Amino acid sequence: MIAVDRKAPQSLHRQIYNSFRAAIVDGRLRPGQRIPSTRVLASEIRVSRFPVLNAYAQLLAEGYLESRVGAGTVVSSSLPGQPTSSTPAQARNLPSRHELRSVAQRCLLLPRKEEFPWMVHWGPFRVGQVALDLFPKHLWSALVSRRCRGINAESAHYGDLMGHKALRRAIANYLNIARSVRCEAGQVLIVNGSQQALEITARVLLNPGDRVWLEDPSYRLARDAFTINECHPVPVPVDSEGLDVRAGIKKYRKARAAFVSPSHQFPLGVTMSASRRLQLVEWAQHSGAWIIEDDYDSEFRYESLPIASLQGLDANSRVIYIGTFSKVLFPSLRLGYIVVPPDLVDRFLLMRRVMDLGAPTLYQEVLADFIDEGHFARHIRRMRVHYGELRRTLVRSLRSTFGDKLEAIGDEAGMHLTVMLPDTRRDEEISARAARQNLSLWPLSRLYMEQPRQGFILGFGGVSAKEIPQAVRKLHRLVIRE
Ligand SMILES: Cc1ncc(COP(=O)(O)O)c(C=O)c1O
Repeated sequence: MIAVDRKAPQSLHRQIYNSFRAAIVDGRLRPGQRIPSTRVLASEIRVSRFPVLNAYAQLLAEGYLESRVGAGTVVSSSLPGQPTSSTPAQARNLPSRHELRSVAQRCLLLPRKEEFPWMVHWGPFRVGQVALDLFPKHLWSALVSRRCRGINAESAHYGDLMGHKALRRAIANYLNIARSVRCEAGQVLIVNGSQQALEITARVLLNPGDRVWLEDPSYRLARDAFTINECHPVPVPVDSEGLDVRAGIKKYRKARAAFVSPSHQFPLGVTMSASRRLQLVEWAQHSGAWIIEDDYDSEFRYESLPIASLQGLDANSRVIYIGTFSKVLFPSLRLGYIVVPPDLVDRFLLMRRVMDLGAPTLYQEVLADFIDEGHFARHIRRMRVHYGELRRTLVRSLRSTFGDKLEAIGDEAGMHLTVMLPDTRRDEEISARAARQNLSLWPLSRLYMEQPRQGFILGFGGVSAKEIPQAVRKLHRLVIRE
């Protein structure tokens, strides 16, 4: 019953422990049954007494065995007489993937996890990739090690729940100047990226059953954040001026919130016009709705100065402004922020506290230093030039390869370019074939809720200018010739 294998990676005492535990749990050893002394077992299985002593000590501590005066060690009499189903993890018979076990209803609201081919490959045009080569790694690592060396009892303890003070100050300052956001540091809540910002916002402001206007098409995970909070998305079409506010009012005037990316709509890349902005703000004020502004890549505009935020236009504190460092630095940093209307700060803070106890202080400190010492502003300027060049190269290359057969849409901004497919070609089919050729094409139709259009979102942040013409030729073969 008890056997050991000296060649196995597991230690001898772990093997003895596991064998006993399995035998007790599946009923081969019964409650009260005597087990051999450590000396006898050690000689039977030809090991020294130490691993046996260790295994017995563990089994005694966990209550599988007990010592009885005069009877030595026995299987604990308080264990159930029948074999239990608590077999060790490795032997556990998990239900097959298709067998449904009962989970909370809200889990069933989310789409099934699918491994999309265009998201597993790292080839050109993967959306969300940044030009890491240009990230000042040495400088960043010097800032990290400086902060690491200076760690003390205060910085190692739980941080300020709103976020590291110096970082909040730096962000408020940056947003005032660069994004015309009206805020003070006390309104800036640091979060683990804009995805968490959305989840907190939805939980604080929305009730199950509430309707939320969503740009159609829109960022898929934003939709999921509302869905998981049992809100009903109301798809509102996007045209060359951004979200069509009149269409939204016609569809569902009394929606509780609108989720928008006015600076650079994801994925179509258009900028919301001034008149639409004013209509949206007015609608929100009249109907008591919230505007959730996702300003995810606003730093990068190439033909004009960055567009001022919607938040700065709204005199009624109806806008929740969300930003992220995922695009301007890198996504795994997992740092973003919410600018919360002053009267709601405590509500947001309390909700955030339930979800986690703050973003890692170390990286908040490093980021505050990075901004305060001027590196952030320099990095943005540098990346704006770099991404601007990449975008121009991509547009030129698409034009010379496709002529007018592939329409590129959106403003000169951001880190992706969206192209529309001609005639009836199916984007998903092409994307699946492209992935096999190491080309990452995110199909546009996937992001629509109604009347999907076929096209691709081409991320150019992670490609080099040299790679672009070849990648575009590959795209051409996939779209036109095959
Ligand atoms: C439009 C949009 N919003 C938000 C996010 C998520 O950003 P974060 O990494 O800050 O959670 C993304 C990520 O690609 C995005 O495209």
